[in-house]
Amino acid sequence: MAKKEGYQLELEGARFYEENFVPSLFENWAKRTVEKLSLSDGDHLLDIACGTGIVARIAKASKIGELRITGIDINEAMLEVAKGIEPEIDWIRGSAQNLPFDDQSFEKISCQFGFMFFEDQVKSLNEMKRIRKRKGKTIIGIWDKIEANEGYFDLLQMIENIGGRDLGQILRSPFNLGDKDEINEIVKSSEISNYKIETIRTKVEFRSIDHWIDCDVKASPIAEEISDQQYSELLKKARLDLNKYLTEDQKVRFNMSAHIVTIE
Ligand SMILES: C[S@@+](CC[C@H](N)C(=O)[O-])C[C@H]1O[C@@H](n2cnc3c(N)ncnc32)[C@H](O)[C@@H]1O
Repeated sequence: MAKKEGYQLELEGARFYEENFVPSLFENWAKRTVEKLSLSDGDHLLDIACGTGIVARIAKASKIGELRITGIDINEAMLEVAKGIEPEIDWIRGSAQNLPFDDQSFEKISCQFGFMFFEDQVKSLNEMKRIRKRKGKTIIGIWDKIEANEGYFDLLQMIENIGGRDLGQILRSPFNLGDKDEINEIVKSSEISNYKIETIRTKVEFRSIDHWIDCDVKASPIAEEISDQQYSELLKKARLDLNKYLTEDQKVRFNMSAHIVTIE
C-alpha cells in the first residue's frame, strides 16, 4: 500500500488522504500558509511537496489577480489525485533536492509539511533560493515536536504499546524535525540569510475518534505495517483513552503546533 520513506502513498492512500486527512487537518494549515505568502497580482507560486494540492488550490481560490501556480511532488499518486481535482494548475513530478526550473523563476514558494522528509534539506533550501526571484517570499511549514502535539503524543503511546517502536517510528517521523534549534542550524548551513522561524498553533478537527485513527492509518505509511488485529485493538483503545479530545458533538478537536520558516 504505502512505503515508509518520505511519506510515500499509493493511489488508494492518496485518495483517502485527500478526502479525509486534508479537510480534517491540512486544509486549515494551508489557509495559514497561503495568508503568510502575501500573494499579489502576477505572482508565480511554486508549492513544493504539494501532495494532493491543497495549498495550491487555496492559493488559486484566493483570486488575487493573475496568479500562475505550479505544484511539484515526488509521488505520482498524490499528483494524480491533484490533477483530477484541479487540471488548470501545473502539476509536476520531481524532487525538492533537484528542482527542474530555471534560476529566479518564482516570486513565491510554499512547502507545507514535506520538508522534514527531504533527504538533503540544505540542498533543498539552496534550490529554493536559486529558483526564487530576489523580491519574493518562501513559507515552509514543519511540525513541532510530537511532545508539543499532545493528541499525537497520546496516539503514539497507544501505537507503540500495540505495535512496538517500529510502528511508533512511522507516526513519529513527521515530527522528527520539531526542534526549532535544529531547524535554525539547517537553515544557517544553507545559502539563505534573511529568515525567521515562528511557532504557531492551529485547530484540527476529525469527525470522530474512528475517523482520526483511520486518517492516521489509511492515509499514512502506517497502513502497510499494521495488522488487522493491531488495527482493531488500536481502535478499541482509542475510543476509550482518547475521548478527552471529544467535543460535545462527539467530534475530535485539538490544536497542533508547527514551526513556520519565512524566508524573504
Ligand atoms: C504530508 S504530505 C504534505 C502534502 C501537502 N503539502 C499538504 O499539505 O497536504 C508530504 C509530501 O511530501 C512529499 N515529498 C517527500 N519527499 C519529497 C521530495 N524529496 N521532493 C518532493 N516531494 C517530497 C510526499 O510525496 C508527500 O506528498
